[in-house]
Amino acid sequence: MTKPPKIVVTRAIAEPAMKVLHEAGEVWAPDPDRKLPPGELHEVVAGADGVVSTLQDRIDGAFADAAGANLRVVSTVAVGYDNVDLPALGAREVILTNTPGVLTDATADLTFGLLLAVTRRLGAGERLLRARRPWEFNLGFMLGTGLQGKSLGIVGLGQIGTAVARRARAFGMRIHYTGRGRAAPELEAELDARFLSMESLLGTADMVSLHCPLTPRTRHLIDAGALAAMKPGAFLVNTTRGPVVDERALADALEGGVIAGAALDVFEREPEVEPRLLELDNVALAPHLGSATVETRTEMALLAARNVASVLAGNGPLTEVRP
Ligand code: DGY
Repeated sequence: MTKPPKIVVTRAIAEPAMKVLHEAGEVWAPDPDRKLPPGELHEVVAGADGVVSTLQDRIDGAFADAAGANLRVVSTVAVGYDNVDLPALGAREVILTNTPGVLTDATADLTFGLLLAVTRRLGAGERLLRARRPWEFNLGFMLGTGLQGKSLGIVGLGQIGTAVARRARAFGMRIHYTGRGRAAPELEAELDARFLSMESLLGTADMVSLHCPLTPRTRHLIDAGALAAMKPGAFLVNTTRGPVVDERALADALEGGVIAGAALDVFEREPEVEPRLLELDNVALAPHLGSATVETRTEMALLAARNVASVLAGNGPLTEVRP
């Protein structure tokens, strides 16, 4: 009888996904409630045929070598994979899979929630009430900025950027976008979207929402220069990866009134947050909640588990990240 494949799960995932993995091999989840430092992670994955990991695990050549020659697939329960050294896995013929699609709506919803939170001052209002400060309704009290008729500049019109744009259209917003290339003509027509250079988008959009992946090219895409190029009174929303924004430059820009506000779900030195951002009332913050719904996290875990099961059964990956 051949030995069942060893599948290591680095962090707790939804039960239905564990069931899929148990049917696919022998599952090891030695310490699923804790982020493992690299040394411990490397010990845990030794001898694995497949690994289900998260964006908190550094997946590189040392990780693959620690797993050993049996390793065939690493399945990250995330759409972003900036924590993975893809060439290092490729060189060892290890497949990487991710979870695109299933988190699109949840992330777009959260993006829109944050956009509303910062433009309508929801956090500031809640802080006022919770501090039990005196207040009363008057016609000039805590006025925000409306979305109707404003332009939303989307950086990266991929699946999530498109889902955000659709929501923005329902709120009566105009869509500008930038990225590596033009979207399909049908999508541009559906969204009535205008393709602009990054520079023009920053100079014209009332609100800018980031949906590009983190790569060496997009690290600090929003730096002091980009912030200065934004329209005065504009808002910035980041639900992609923290390092796309230079957080210190952002704090300077917010303190100096260069832009009107920012809404952030992700942080440059996560889980740390630039302390000055915590002091500003024109910032809406969330602790990386983009895909954090029970339904979405279950779908993500299931897709990750099915990827592992499929590769280990010899049927190939369902959603492979190609170099
Ligand atoms: C992702 O999938 O990349 C998100 O950041 C977490 O769901």
